[in-house]
Amino acid sequence: MSERAFPLAEITDIELNASLETTLYEQLYHAIKQRICQGRFKAGMRLPASRKLAEQLSVSRNTITLALEQLQAEGYLISRVGSGFYITTDLPETFFKVKQPKVAAIKPLLGKSYLAASVNKFMQPSTNRDLSNYPFQPGMPDLKHFPKKIWSRIAQRYHHLHDTHLLAFDDPRGYLPLREVLSEYLTSSRSVRCQPQQIILTAGAQQALNLVSHVLINPNDIVAIENPGYIQARRIFELHAAKLRGIDIQKDSLCIKQLQRLKLPPKLIYTTPTHQYPLGMIMPLAKRIQLIEYCKQQHCWLLEDDYDSEYYYQAKPIPCLQGLADSNNILYMGSFSKVLFPALRLGYLVVPESFVDTFTQVKACLYGHDVLINQAIVAEFMSAGHFGRHLKKMRLLYADKLNYVKLLHQRYLEKYSELLEYDAGMHLVIKFKHAIDDNVIVSQLREKKFAPTALSNYFIGKDKQSGLVLGFANSDEKMIEIGIKLIRKLIMSQI
Ligand SMILES: Cc1ncc(COP(=O)(O)O)c(C=O)c1O
Repeated sequence: MSERAFPLAEITDIELNASLETTLYEQLYHAIKQRICQGRFKAGMRLPASRKLAEQLSVSRNTITLALEQLQAEGYLISRVGSGFYITTDLPETFFKVKQPKVAAIKPLLGKSYLAASVNKFMQPSTNRDLSNYPFQPGMPDLKHFPKKIWSRIAQRYHHLHDTHLLAFDDPRGYLPLREVLSEYLTSSRSVRCQPQQIILTAGAQQALNLVSHVLINPNDIVAIENPGYIQARRIFELHAAKLRGIDIQKDSLCIKQLQRLKLPPKLIYTTPTHQYPLGMIMPLAKRIQLIEYCKQQHCWLLEDDYDSEYYYQAKPIPCLQGLADSNNILYMGSFSKVLFPALRLGYLVVPESFVDTFTQVKACLYGHDVLINQAIVAEFMSAGHFGRHLKKMRLLYADKLNYVKLLHQRYLEKYSELLEYDAGMHLVIKFKHAIDDNVIVSQLREKKFAPTALSNYFIGKDKQSGLVLGFANSDEKMIEIGIKLIRKLIMSQI
């Protein structure tokens, strides 16, 4: 067939500009490609001869050749010896018809996973960086008192990277020296039964919860959680399609009878026995033993979240539940978020010996290996005694802040709210005495740059209590006083 049988792709509206950063050949390449993709240059059309194109566009033939050869390499053009370049006929017609990607049109094809679809149901995490460290933010330590100089000195040494071991992959469980010093600490201070090989380091408790769910939870498995309880744990179990059963928190913690009345026993129970989150009570010994027995008889897993037990202000922290049990169905979880700083993203799981391999393999499969440098810094921070000293200092500081909040509550808020008095942790809970929407108070407080959370959000089901979870650790006395007075004003405006 003669060349004339193929319609010509006219280049009349292409202009090249030598003063732009992109080269002339790239400009021509993009211009032709755009016309092909928009369907203006149709399959089979012939491009003018390169000599003619060079004249028309006032550029060298070399520029034309480079652009056309690139389009040929990518499959947009084909070349026929002696007759020049043609728009390929190999691409499906639909390709040329696509003008703009239309989100609505492709939605059914790109349907979201169960996880991505259900994530919308939950509270949206804040992407506002300021909000994460406003006064009264629960769980936020006093970062002004973090021993930055000591930390930087250790960090600097590791960042010089004399030890190239830290640049390679290590055991998927995490850096061994940290697991060793952590195992000593957990054994002596929390009475955890553990050896370094049972510790799996994670990116915070959040990753530990995910890992536990991946290892143990299948869709529709029953998971019992405390009600009220830790929202993040609830979210993660729901994302794993577990069927949640909220177990009420009574005056002395989890209601074991309610657990026993469940038609089917849960696969896993998540609990915060040493400092119930968020209400604050300690599970008494008798109940701990009942819970351990229940899990043993029903063959269910118990996940103990020991998230802030370092902060006890009256007596020594009470030993953990895992250390009391002789069974191998208890997982112990902890985090450095409160005792060091939350952006460190470092937590850990202590798993029974017989499950170490499974947890290690699943962790390696899901998350690969850890960043070792931070783990090495923490290991040295702990083994050189800085961790112990830091905790001691923070305990005194937080005890003073706690007493101050109690004092101001008595002075300004007692008429409107009940304070749950447990001398532990980094937050306090107040329950409103009147029917007040705690989410309204929280959003008004956020406007004034205070970030407590609404107590009602921690409940599942209809029976919710209204109040505030007040983190006191990151606030100084002045801000605590301003905040408490503001809360009183806002409550008064609602009753
Ligand atoms: C109940 C509970 N568990 C664990 C954590 C620690 O979470 P992460 O280590 O992901 O920061 C927190 C932090 O606020 C918490 O409130």
